[in-house]
Amino acid sequence: MSKNIQSIRGMHDILPDAIPAWQYFESTVRDLLKRYGYSEIRMPVVEQTDLFKRAVGEVTDIVEKEMYTLESRRNTEGGEDFSMALRPEGTAGCVRAGIQSGLIFNQQQRLWYAGPMFRAERPQKGRYRQFTQVGVETFGITGPDIDAELIAIGARLWKQLGLRNIHLELNSLGTLQARQAYRALLVDHFSAHQELLDEDSRRRLHTNPLRILDSKNPAMRELVAAAPNLHEHLDSESAEHFAQLQSLLDGMGIPYRINPRLVRGLDYYSRTVFEWVTDELGAQGTVCAGGRYDGLVEQLGGRPTPGCGFAMGVERLILLLEAQGIAPASPAPDVFLIMAGEAAAKAGMALAEQLRDAIPTLNIISNCGGGNFKTQMKRADKSAARFALILGENEVERGEIGLKPLREENGQITLPISQLAGHLTALLATAQQ
Ligand code: HAM
Repeated sequence: MSKNIQSIRGMHDILPDAIPAWQYFESTVRDLLKRYGYSEIRMPVVEQTDLFKRAVGEVTDIVEKEMYTLESRRNTEGGEDFSMALRPEGTAGCVRAGIQSGLIFNQQQRLWYAGPMFRAERPQKGRYRQFTQVGVETFGITGPDIDAELIAIGARLWKQLGLRNIHLELNSLGTLQARQAYRALLVDHFSAHQELLDEDSRRRLHTNPLRILDSKNPAMRELVAAAPNLHEHLDSESAEHFAQLQSLLDGMGIPYRINPRLVRGLDYYSRTVFEWVTDELGAQGTVCAGGRYDGLVEQLGGRPTPGCGFAMGVERLILLLEAQGIAPASPAPDVFLIMAGEAAAKAGMALAEQLRDAIPTLNIISNCGGGNFKTQMKRADKSAARFALILGENEVERGEIGLKPLREENGQITLPISQLAGHLTALLATAQQ
């Protein structure tokens, strides 16, 4: 016999038991973003590979090593073959959609999206090949006020979810021009110590030297620590922007730690970058990250438009909800309807529908697939329902029904079916003991 086909490594099912935590997270985020005036946008999961090369950067890990590209396809209208990629992140597609549909031309826009992203990384706890982001992007707002608002959304979300121990790391990368000048200083510094660089860093020396600052290699720690400090080379406008952002955060009572080594793995950032980090998830502790990308819209063909946003790793936040014991459990049904005998089975199906009409909040499971009384009772127990309703041939004849509490001491009662909806409504209003 052939072996069962398994899911692809790093791509996971979200099983029913985990769904309440996901839905809790999703509904909390949705409500919160609505309160801040953000509109949802949905983009395709596949885009032209060139979009990510241009936006995220040719020499980033994401584009160099982690993109899933699909076979080239010709547009149905003809034209050139082009390569497509499963999106590794959402900002590029959101900017593309905004330019294409005129959404971000000459106006302010606050958008959010949610969905799967794909990166061919080495899977481990908190790092997957298919993962879910909720992302937020804003357009047309230059000041640090919007940076502060985005950070406040994160802070409020953690609080609303009940999550503890998530810290904010903050940095400014300056303008693109200031970064070019700083980049030259870095190349000088690292070139003078080429023998100390590992292979990755040597490769990045002339393509993306800022990423060397991000190196986790302990052998390079001293060299990285001795590198010129970006903050001493910030342009004055960026320095002012950063100071104002800090003042806004202080005013809102949001604590942060300035981390001059925070450079991010995507090329489009300028000025503010930030990460929300926890130490409870091991190596993959960044649960949310983002920053300002003032050059990206223009780089992708739009009119110069400032942008700022962030994205959360939902799987990591779910892991944290579980680790901190605040992931909600699956809700138990209110009622399991047992129907013994043919006439009862028919009457019961109709009764369940009447009850759903009468009590719109009622969660009722009807026994399906037959079975004797004992089997059905076992199913009722397993369903974790609070009450069993018992309908046998005798009850149908007499117009009555049995009601048995399954989680409480009280015994079974029999009542006229005509009184059932009223009685159940009253019972369900009383909290379970
Ligand atoms: P990013 O830092 O690449 O930024 O990803 C954002 C978040 O997605 C990370 O902090 C992490 O929580 C989660 N994440 C990333 N890769 C994985 C993975 N392999 N498995 C599980 N979770 C992962 C961006 O994607 C930018 N687009 C964020 C942004 C939006 N910047 C401005 N606007």
